[in-house]
Amino acid sequence: MLLPIGNMRRMTIQRVGILGSGIMGSGIAEVAAKAGIDVVLRSRSQESADQMREGLAASLAKQVSREKIQQADADAVLARVTATDHLGDLVDCDLVIKSVVEDLQVKVPLFAELDSICKPEAILATNTSTLPVVEMAVATHRPEKVLGIHFFNPAPAMSLVEVIAPLTASEATVDAAVAFAEACGKRPVKVKDRAGFIVNALLFPYLNNAARMLENGTATAEDIDEAMKGGCNFPMGPLALLDLVGLDTSVAILDALYEEFRDPNYAAVPALRRMVAAGRLGRKTGAGFYDYSR
Ligand SMILES: NC(=O)c1ccc[n+]([C@@H]2O[C@H](COP(=O)([O-])OP(=O)(O)OC[C@H]3O[C@@H](n4cnc5c(N)ncnc54)[C@H](O)[C@@H]3O)[C@@H](O)[C@H]2O)c1
Repeated sequence: MLLPIGNMRRMTIQRVGILGSGIMGSGIAEVAAKAGIDVVLRSRSQESADQMREGLAASLAKQVSREKIQQADADAVLARVTATDHLGDLVDCDLVIKSVVEDLQVKVPLFAELDSICKPEAILATNTSTLPVVEMAVATHRPEKVLGIHFFNPAPAMSLVEVIAPLTASEATVDAAVAFAEACGKRPVKVKDRAGFIVNALLFPYLNNAARMLENGTATAEDIDEAMKGGCNFPMGPLALLDLVGLDTSVAILDALYEEFRDPNYAAVPALRRMVAAGRLGRKTGAGFYDYSR
């Protein structure tokens, strides 16, 4: 797979590095490898990097058993993916997508570190849901090559990618990100670097108010979710969606939105914070608004 990067005709995206072995990192790895791009998965430990690759193997095996893909294609996808705990293994990547915890204190130093490791022409992207991309860009010596490429959860199933252009990004970088998203079979939309971009800026007041409604005792979790599915034709209710996103990530998103806009609808309701404190983060820990342990 050869993708021209903007106007730089000789530069191609053949190799993508992904940092972070959480929900989103795994999904983006699957999407890119299926698009024929070599993927380097980097996690903080070799064990979690290997687990991520094994998770991808299991997901591909399931797709083969359901006759969604051929065994030979699954093998080819897996063969494109390597797992490592060394940041240095990202040196040859044309694009690195960082999908680690939603915390600027973690993301900004990682960008500075990536900048010192990756080849100068590489594009550095963040999968942040809300945080200011420009702050990551200016931590590097290549701010024109830094932007947001925001996949949605689950990445293999969701068609949208928001391409977030901070003030510092060049047109060539934005064009390259759009081309990458299209090559991954996604529908990219371009958006300015504002907290929440398009989707989360509109979605999170709704999710937060659903948690508030439950906290107020207006209805049960099941009835709130059932109402929004049956009444609005949404495929999933708001509390089940919070569980899917992860309550820690959701609180981080609300905090970033509140920090930027000071709109009370973005102020995370106390119940969400208490659930995070209790470790009830949603599907990823087996419990959130619903129980996933069985
Ligand atoms: N969950 C969603 O629905 C969703 C959707 C789109 C974008 N995102 C964004 O993707 C990013 C990752 O979210 P996720 O849902 O995959 O989270 P997650 O909790 O599943 O995974 C977080 C990852 O960050 C790593 N990490 C934690 N602290 C770190 C540190 N100090 N240094 C390096 N790595 C560290 C963890 O090991 C883990 O691999 C966030 O920016 C989030 O906002 C999430």
